[in-house]
Amino acid sequence: MVEMMKAVRLHAFGGPEVLRYEDAPRPVPAPGEVLVRVHAIGLNPPDWYLRDGYRSLPPEWQPRPTFPLIPGSDVSGVIEAVTDGVEGFRVGDEVFAMVRFPRDVMEGSKAYAEYVSVPASDLALKPAGIDHIHAAGAPMSLLTAWQFLIELGHDEPNPFQASRHAPVPLAGKTVLVNGAGGGVGHLAVQLATWRGARVIAVASGKNEELMRDLGADRFIDHTGTAAHEVVRDVDLVLDTVGGADTGRFLRTLKRGGALFPVYPMGFAGYGEAERLGVTVSTTQVRSSGAQLAQAAPLLDDGTVRVVLDSTFPLADASDAHERAARGSIQGKIVLTAV
Ligand SMILES: NC(=O)c1ccc[n+]([C@@H]2O[C@H](COP(=O)([O-])OP(=O)(O)OC[C@H]3O[C@@H](n4cnc5c(N)ncnc54)[C@H](OP(=O)(O)O)[C@@H]3O)[C@@H](O)[C@H]2O)c1
Repeated sequence: MVEMMKAVRLHAFGGPEVLRYEDAPRPVPAPGEVLVRVHAIGLNPPDWYLRDGYRSLPPEWQPRPTFPLIPGSDVSGVIEAVTDGVEGFRVGDEVFAMVRFPRDVMEGSKAYAEYVSVPASDLALKPAGIDHIHAAGAPMSLLTAWQFLIELGHDEPNPFQASRHAPVPLAGKTVLVNGAGGGVGHLAVQLATWRGARVIAVASGKNEELMRDLGADRFIDHTGTAAHEVVRDVDLVLDTVGGADTGRFLRTLKRGGALFPVYPMGFAGYGEAERLGVTVSTTQVRSSGAQLAQAAPLLDDGTVRVVLDSTFPLADASDAHERAARGSIQGKIVLTAV
């Protein structure tokens, strides 16, 4: 008999209203995977890109998955079962993960559910010092900030450029983080501070107090001041907003500096970057239990804090997507599943 669970599924692409809370078969973990009883699910932009059918991509790149599908990648929960070949994890362990990303980016990693199967290589023990809600907010945003700023951690091909992305030394450097109040941004501010950088945080005004609390040395409200008009001679810009306009930050950098657009689509300023002696580099985040385990002590002792924008019950995932669609997210939106 098939065991069932509650999950949020899509039967077609569309707006937040296509997210349906309903019964679905409980996953059966493959060899090398564990079954996790999900306590909380962190939301990320790929969740709404997929819900919408990746409409911004050319039609030939858009996903054609088998419906119904379960979206979501970031979870924190408790191991319910382990399979052959899994080492280092036991039933009852509290764990967190970004599940099969980017492998399952076009069909969903099935995290919006009471149970999810997770490759052991994507998992790490949840830091005891934080609860499941905060742990679920960490994986994709933290791994993104980590892989851009601290260590890439893999040799897989880079879908955005021919070369391997290489983080740069941060100690004693000036780092501008654009989109600093968002999921990736608020964690990047803290990682750069931890590594000894002087941080300029660029975000909307409501984030100022938070940014100073998280270690930023200077705050620029992008709704009143264009950061690229007033900042010069920085060593690194991490632009979590990115897009075609990311090139405006080239003029804020020293010769020898670097621009890292986290969302690189549309950037065409490679010639100008070369003339200015600035490196432009990006990458695509990848699941890594090993890196989550490396970062876990920072979450555990509060060196890096996951800030919560809002929480919603799993059953109200469509409300959580409505919140995301209004933008100006401060930290993370998280669903609770217990
Ligand atoms: N390369 C990768 O593998 C990778 C991985 C993760 C994410 N991403 C991409 O990175 C982007 C950010 O992801 P996220 O999870 O951090 O999103 P998020 O949580 O929605 O954060 C985006 C932040 O940008 C701020 N913002 C919007 N317009 C701005 C502007 N003009 N200037 C400065 N800040 C602005 C928003 O708040 P305020 O307007 O209130 O400041 C918000 O806090 C997304 O496009 C995502 O797809 C890429």
